[in-house]
Amino acid sequence: MPKAYLFLTIPLLCLTAAAAKAEGDAEAGRKISLAHCTRCHVVGDANPHGGINSTPSFQLLARRDDWRERFASFFERRPHPVFVRVPGIPAWTKLPSVIEPFTVTLEEVDDILSFIETLEPK
Ligand code: HEC
Repeated sequence: MPKAYLFLTIPLLCLTAAAAKAEGDAEAGRKISLAHCTRCHVVGDANPHGGINSTPSFQLLARRDDWRERFASFFERRPHPVFVRVPGIPAWTKLPSVIEPFTVTLEEVDDILSFIETLEPK
């Protein structure tokens, strides 16, 4: 194989490996999801009859090809910017939230990604 190919292939392989597995702690992610997300989402087997009907379940979201991207940036996606605060990321609005706000760190977002990996698609 010509050298130039190696220079291209090795970084690509590293990138693929990094993308394949989240760095977080799945058990911590499960606890965070139960504490904060079950208010609206059905989260795995935790609350099969809970959540809000109009809100997609985590299992359903996990079936999407781009679930990783969606969960990694959930705090910037509607409706979350109104009630989720992330230290280091400017709040979307200074207006008070109409529902109880909560805070997640970027590390905890990684934990949530690892937890989502454990959800069997249904
Ligand atoms: C107050 C209700 C509420 C809470 C709490 C909540 N969500 Fe959501 N979430 C929603 C609704 C409603 C949608 C659907 C939005 C839509 O379809 O436009 C959604 C959609 C999502 C999506 C898909 C977003 C997209 O653009 O595809 C992800 C990922 C998500 N939520 C993750 C989370 C996580 C992780 C938590 C907990 C840390 C959480 N949500 C807490 C209401 C909530």
